[in-house]
Order: sequence, then structure tokens, then C-alpha cells
Amino acid sequence: MPDKVLVTREIPEAGLRPLEGFDLTVLSEAPPDREALLEAAEGATGVLSNVTEKMDAAFMDAAGPELKVIANMAVGYDNVDVEAAKERGIVVTNTPGVLDETTADTAFMLLLAAARRLGESERTLRAGGWHWWGPKLFVGVDVWGKTLGIVGMGRIGQAVARRGRGFGMEILYHNRSRKEDAEKELDARYADLDELLETADFVSVHTPLTEETRHLIGADELGKMKPAAVLVNTSRGPVVDEGALADALADGRIFAAGLDVYEEEPKVHPKLLERENAVLAPHIGSGSRETRDRMAVLAAENIVAVLSGRDPKTPVGG
Ligand code: GLV
Repeated sequence: MPDKVLVTREIPEAGLRPLEGFDLTVLSEAPPDREALLEAAEGATGVLSNVTEKMDAAFMDAAGPELKVIANMAVGYDNVDVEAAKERGIVVTNTPGVLDETTADTAFMLLLAAARRLGESERTLRAGGWHWWGPKLFVGVDVWGKTLGIVGMGRIGQAVARRGRGFGMEILYHNRSRKEDAEKELDARYADLDELLETADFVSVHTPLTEETRHLIGADELGKMKPAAVLVNTSRGPVVDEGALADALADGRIFAAGLDVYEEEPKVHPKLLERENAVLAPHIGSGSRETRDRMAVLAAENIVAVLSGRDPKTPVGG
């Protein structure tokens, strides 16, 4: 009997090919409800999961003792209880490295759109509200030559910093540890978080979600930013206090924000939805065809490796 592998969402075709020899169940395009997920998990040896599914102890127990690997099709894995997996001898993998440039493109897209008021001006045009060219119409702030502050200087943070250098920006960064290669390559300067917030014209957040980074950017931190500054978040929603951000945008304490992630996806704070100076994308950070193919293939290959008794390419914490 071939091993049973559960794929929790419909994924690109390329990711199904490596799994062809298995007894494969692919659930649905939309996130499955919890009950259907637990039921489908029974007897699975491998699971290809997505950020929308909680891979917690109850899920692992529903799958049963045969479960050997959970391959999350994402670089972030805050949806997976890694400790519970470890206790059960289940290998957890993610997809680092294959989505850095695409996610950095998303961050820069949001940064540019927020700075130059693209969302607001496009909405106005489509609604028939554009009547003339105007010297004061939809005037934003410059990006080129400004200071870009990167919070979390991992692979994606560095890819955003490289884009910033291409726009003639000065790079500041804050990270748990110093990144000397990035300092040399990008002329990036390390700063503590307060200094970064006070100095940067653009702040882009790239930390994983952990207990330490939850609400890392709250009312106090937003209060330290410049009134003309722009905040970008493509990491995880709970790293930013959404309510505090909506208030800061409403009061003009910062100029604008570009967000791809939210505290309770797919819900977006109602006050943010009202803000013209918030550019809001629906968690599409890694959403290019090429990158989604690469993520699906890597996740599938991790499953194949573990179920064939080999080391996975990208274990979490490995
Ligand atoms: C997507 O959010 C990811 O973590 O890859």
C-alpha cells in the first residue's frame, strides 16, 4: 500500500508531480473546515499544509502515529506547533529561499503604492472622480534617496534592502543579531528599534511571528515614527497592532501604510478598511506563478525525502 499523503489545499500542478506514487488526497481550493481537515488527516504519513491550516497537537493526533512529516508551503510556520511535532517524532519543513525575491517585490510594490497614493488615486479614477490634472492632486512622498528601515534582516529583509539601494536609499536595519555581510554589501547600518523608527522614512517589517515579535509595532512604536513615514508589513499580521495602526493613520501620525498581512486573516480591521492611506493586499506576498510553483515543488520534495528515509531539504530549524 502506498503511503497516504494529504494536501490541504489545491496547489500548483508542479507540486503534485513529485507526489504521484502516493495515495494522494487533495482537499479544496478554499480552506477546509476544521472537521473535514481532521477527518481527512486520518492515517496520513505526510501532510502538505498551508498557512491557513492549524497544524496543532489535535491535528497530529487525528492523523495518528503514522504521520512522519508536515511540509508547510510557506516560509513562515507559526501555524505549526513545532514542539508538538517534535514530541511525536514528526519532521516539520518550510519553504525558505524560494520566495525571497518575490516577497521583496511585494513589499516594494506596497511601499511605492503607499508613498505615491496609488490605491486612493486609482479608486478615484475608476469611480469617475478624476476631473483634471492638478498641481496638488494626489501628491505623495518621494521614495528615492530616502532612508529605508528594515526590521528583521533575514533573506527577505535583505532582498528589500537591495531594492532600496537601487532607489538610492540609505539602509538602516534592526535584527536580533548583526548581519555583517549585509552591512558590507548594502552599506546597511545597524540601529536599535527606537532609532530606526525615529530615523527611517520607510519602515518595512520582515520578522517571523513569535511571542517576542507579537505587536512589536504598537502605538508607542508608531508614535516614534516620522509624520511623513510609511509602514510596510509583509511578514505576519500580529507583528503590527492593527487597531493602533488604524488610529495612527487616521490621526496623521504617519503618512501611509502598505499591508499584505492581517491579525485575523481574512478579516481586516474595519478602521483600516476606511483609511484611504492604507494600501491593502490580500496576503499575496509570494504570489507569482513561478514562486508558487517553486514553493509547491519544494514542499512536495520534502515529503518525498522524509517518506523515503532521507533528510528533507529544508527542515524547520535546520
Ligand atoms: C507566506 O506567508 C509565507 O510565509 O511563505
